[in-house]
Amino acid sequence: MSLHGVRIAGTGSCLPERVVTNADLEKRLDTSDEWIRSRTGIGERRWASEDEATSDFAIPAGRRALEAAGCDPADVDFVICATLTPDMPMPSTAGLIQRGLNLEKAGGFDLSSACAGFVHALTVGTNYVRTGSAKNVLVVGAETMTKVLDHSDRATAVIFADGAGAALLQPAPAGESDVLASRYGLRGDDEVLLLKGGGSRYPTTHESVDEKLHLIFMEGRATFRFAVKTFASLITETCDDAGIAPQDLKLIVPHQVNMRIIEAACTRAKVSTDKCFLNIETVGNTSAASVPIALDDAVRAGKLERGDLVLMLAFGGGLSWSSILLRW
Ligand SMILES: CC(C)(COP(=O)(O)OP(=O)(O)OC[C@H]1O[C@@H](n2cnc3c(N)ncnc32)[C@H](O)[C@@H]1OP(=O)(O)O)[C@@H](O)C(=O)NCCC(=O)NCCS
Repeated sequence: MSLHGVRIAGTGSCLPERVVTNADLEKRLDTSDEWIRSRTGIGERRWASEDEATSDFAIPAGRRALEAAGCDPADVDFVICATLTPDMPMPSTAGLIQRGLNLEKAGGFDLSSACAGFVHALTVGTNYVRTGSAKNVLVVGAETMTKVLDHSDRATAVIFADGAGAALLQPAPAGESDVLASRYGLRGDDEVLLLKGGGSRYPTTHESVDEKLHLIFMEGRATFRFAVKTFASLITETCDDAGIAPQDLKLIVPHQVNMRIIEAACTRAKVSTDKCFLNIETVGNTSAASVPIALDDAVRAGKLERGDLVLMLAFGGGLSWSSILLRW
């Protein structure tokens, strides 16, 4: 089987209109702008309104990626939506995107891997294109984290946010744009980053809701240690696999997890934080939507030209992690 090259032909994103500043959070939680900025790097974030759901952001993000690529919705072969906050378990959010964008012939599915979901989905999507199984693959990362946040838990309520980003993949001539390396990992863990309720182990009951099992639980310090170590290894190991040095990268588009984690990981991997594209200050941590929203911002800011080496990486609940190094 011969492999094609693959390129990101267009990107798009969509954020909720409602801006929530640190000052807004000071009014409802025992926290401060100074604490949030110094511990996370976040100044404000976007939160969905009560009647908005994940597909309300996923569909416009997908539409913008198709428009940027000049791709007719009728030509999309496959759609993958990475999310841990689907509109509902069934139908899939990919199905809602298919209907919302009128992707007449597309197949698709949701991919669940928490914050690492979009980068995993991008790797899966590039493999559809490289092997010739599909030509136009729309990959979306979308979340409404505020629907699964414990709004009285100051450690998580200040970090997570809502939105969606998307990328359209297409074949590229051999030797031009392509995937140079990708990494992945999984360490089954039910202590560090959890959302236990609503599945078959803890079905939704009055008791499960009283115990807040339908909301995110995070062990902050363990998450911090896991994130720094994983982030740094993904940089060095993915670059090693591709036979390049981290200094050769034009841009790193990391999960916008938390500024202290990003800085500590870059120091550990001996790469300048300046290599990272950052929008966490205004967007916050949008889980699976974080990398594609940042990628779209980077593209629209003119940060990438064809031929540049760009590394995307993410990690989170599972615990799981993923990276992909592209020649743009
Ligand atoms: C959450 C995090 C910022 C907390 O910072 P920390 O220095 O580890 O702080 P600790 O958890 O030890 O808590 C220190 C104190 O700050 C308090 N604190 C937590 N959140 C706070 C907030 N928003 N405002 C003010 N104080 C807060 C804690 O209650 C604790 O108080 P105590 O000492 O009286 O018990 C940090 O653990 C972290 O960044 N973890 C990773 C989170 C993340 O990125 N998650 C996303 C993964 S995808």
